[in-house]
Amino acid sequence: MRVCKYLVLAFVQLVLLNSLLASTKKETPILLKVLDLKCEYATNPIGMDIQHPQLSWRIESKTRGFIQTTYQILVSDSPDLLEKEIGNVWNSGKIASGNSSGIAFKGTELISRKRYFWKVKIYDATQMESNWSETAFFEMGLLKQKDWTAFWIGNPGGQSGRNLYFGKNFDTEKKVAQARVYVSGIGYYELHINGKKVGNHVLDPAASDYNKRVYYATYDITTLLLKKNRFGVIVAPGWYGVPKLRLQAEISYSDGTNETISSDWNWGVTVGPSIKSSIYDGEEYDARLEKGGWDEPIGDTTQSSRTNKWFTAKVIEAPGGLMVAQNMEPICVVDSLLPKTIKQPAKGIYVLDFGQNLAGWASLKVKGERGTKVSMKFSENLFLDGTVNQDNLYVAEAMDSYTLKGGEIEQWEPAFTYHGFQYVQVENFPGELKADNIIAKVVRTNVNPTGKFTCSNDLLNRLHQVIWSTEASNLHSIPTDCPQRSERLGWMNDMTVRIEQALYNFDLARFYAKFIDDVEDTQDEEGRITDTAPFKWGNRPADPVSASYLLLALKSYEFYGNKQIIQDHYKGLKAWVDYLYTRTENGIVNYSYWGDWSPPIEFAKNGGAESKDTPGQYISSGYLCYSSRILSEMADILGIENDKINYKKLSITIQDAINNKYWDKKTGGYASNNQACNSFALYLGIVNKERISRVVDNLVNDVKNRNYHLTTGNLCTKYLMEMLTEYGYADVAYKIATQETYPSWGYMLANGATTLWERWENETGSAMNSHNHPMMGSVDSWFYKYLVGIIPDITRPGFDKFSIKPYIINDLTFVDGEYNSVKGVIKCAWKKKAGFIYMDISIPENSTATVYIPTINMKSITEGNRKINNSKELKFLKMEGSYAAYEVGSGTYNFKSEW
Ligand code: BGC
Repeated sequence: MRVCKYLVLAFVQLVLLNSLLASTKKETPILLKVLDLKCEYATNPIGMDIQHPQLSWRIESKTRGFIQTTYQILVSDSPDLLEKEIGNVWNSGKIASGNSSGIAFKGTELISRKRYFWKVKIYDATQMESNWSETAFFEMGLLKQKDWTAFWIGNPGGQSGRNLYFGKNFDTEKKVAQARVYVSGIGYYELHINGKKVGNHVLDPAASDYNKRVYYATYDITTLLLKKNRFGVIVAPGWYGVPKLRLQAEISYSDGTNETISSDWNWGVTVGPSIKSSIYDGEEYDARLEKGGWDEPIGDTTQSSRTNKWFTAKVIEAPGGLMVAQNMEPICVVDSLLPKTIKQPAKGIYVLDFGQNLAGWASLKVKGERGTKVSMKFSENLFLDGTVNQDNLYVAEAMDSYTLKGGEIEQWEPAFTYHGFQYVQVENFPGELKADNIIAKVVRTNVNPTGKFTCSNDLLNRLHQVIWSTEASNLHSIPTDCPQRSERLGWMNDMTVRIEQALYNFDLARFYAKFIDDVEDTQDEEGRITDTAPFKWGNRPADPVSASYLLLALKSYEFYGNKQIIQDHYKGLKAWVDYLYTRTENGIVNYSYWGDWSPPIEFAKNGGAESKDTPGQYISSGYLCYSSRILSEMADILGIENDKINYKKLSITIQDAINNKYWDKKTGGYASNNQACNSFALYLGIVNKERISRVVDNLVNDVKNRNYHLTTGNLCTKYLMEMLTEYGYADVAYKIATQETYPSWGYMLANGATTLWERWENETGSAMNSHNHPMMGSVDSWFYKYLVGIIPDITRPGFDKFSIKPYIINDLTFVDGEYNSVKGVIKCAWKKKAGFIYMDISIPENSTATVYIPTINMKSITEGNRKINNSKELKFLKMEGSYAAYEVGSGTYNFKSEW
């Protein structure tokens, strides 16, 4: 009987298997796939210098609710071994874990220059297993400082501001198997081989404190080498001063021998057509000075006899910092725009309007007489007479010039400067200027966009676009405050409220991992960091509002599952919090410079940008409370029990001190009882339960009494919007967001803003009046967090778990948004129709979401036209106000509910 039963079972299984195979032949055969393998958040990076790089992958599965329970990683130094499933560098074995990002490599020591190949296989709880993924690789750069044998070279007698041209001939008579170049030139460099620019990086290397670290890039130049070769490198002052170059090319021949070409005293140096450049002032290029073949292996190969005034380069003092691999996306030209209008406000003057404020430069196409000097001036604003208004650029001259060599059509664009502009004023252009003579090139760190947002309110859609463009204009290897005036610095206080917005909009896994190093580089023995990183302006210690130092790490952990960043920076983060504590008196931080910066002018001190009614020390103390709480959370993540307890205690001490000093029983509010003070207290969660309703009432009434206008600066604007929403007034927050009269974002749009302003006022004069400033843009994270409703869960980082909880705004009929997480794309689109809410969502594989379905009647909910309570895939969790919360696994779902 038993045998018979097994036979029948086996037969049924065979039939099922056959039919599965037959059906899968027709459709796609793979039910489960591991793809998008990344090492340190990059696809197949070369020139890596991290000893325990973090690995990640994405999963595609045809079944809903897919959860990985086990993974196995193989790393090998040979693709053949890996093919045979031999991980001679690391075989993780089967690891029972759902993690698919932030997994630290734990194999044998990684070796400079070596390439490693890896693949992954995963399993689920039913022991369904994937195939091995496709092979990915990562290649190490120069891991040790002593791997660098090249010298720093320059021209010590050089004039400041002058760009230098370096050159070196070399022969490769044997067959080249592989060639790499490791290169850095500070301030900015452009590498050429045999007459061509190498790669697509511009404005390399990434900004840093060159005393502490200098970033180098790695290029695979195997296919670029000929028998006779020449390196040509232009190096400009950039953020440095007198240009310096360090280059090390390592060539392996197929006969097993190696050769290194290094920058040294055998290189030539000269000046050239790109005469001068300055980030702020622009670039000057004289095409008459072009030296034909300067980067080509023609003529004599010895430097001394090369014509055209080549001098012998000098070995000069190193900038001092460690050579560090640039593990982040490079700055690139990412887009180009034709002018929308061309006007001639005066004879010989053209003014082009690109219709969009942006960061980048203009590319010029021109034909004319030799010696004609065309100039291009950049601005965000125009004077009434139609000429460019550069008043708000501080001392930046923002002008490029090109002198023609004459003859054929000439094409030029700068390489060692960039501008923030919407308008270009062209002077001395020979002939009639047409639309294709000047094209705007959009230049930024080439990070991938990750978010999408649209809704039924056009103003919000435009505002989202404006904030996106503002953020995009301010990613130049550091998050800058603005791209146009003589500043462009990584201001820490702006970042505190900017990070979330930026993380929804762009993949900043590597960008923030790099920027936090810049911050750490500013830190002194006392734990003090500075207002800007790399440090150029501002104070040491930074304003205590710089919780951004902690948030860079915490949010990278939350969004990308990057635990390493917390580990690596914990000491520094702790030192900063400890330092702030030394500056307290009775629990109140005793200093502040910026506070809730740049509120509407009537709420600012003496016409400046400091808040008049929001006490600086209140804000400083609030941030110490916040930062110590974050630190306690981090200690918990790292398992440092003492710190977890102590910093929690510290945050409570500060909280009590703030409550003692700033709670006002009479008004029922904090400090001056204004929007900033009350929303900040609520955000910090320091308000005693029985006081909350008074604080919220005060907040809401203040907003209503001002006819839905805000009075906040860069920081508390974020907290105002979020707290109104979380305390039941999402529609009030929405009215602020869609307000069109001053002060509001709508007012900026009504006045033609295509990127956000630094002030709520429409000012274009010589003070701090940037028109491309991300610090006021936190409302964009409000769109993602509350209108789309996607919020990560820090207890299960890397979107292992998250929630979808859209707030249904009375005035909106639909919202449609998505976020491309490390696990894959998350979507939520909801619309109202005939008494129902339709909500379509997507949850990526290996993720679980708590989905809050808005409804007035839980029984009415359907998913895919079936009653939800019949679904095994959806686990009811709780009713919460007008939401039914369910636990939902991966897949796409279409909910409908009465509303
Ligand atoms: C920057 C701001 C910054 C402020 C003070 C300004 O110059 O542009 O973004 O917040 O200084 O902190």
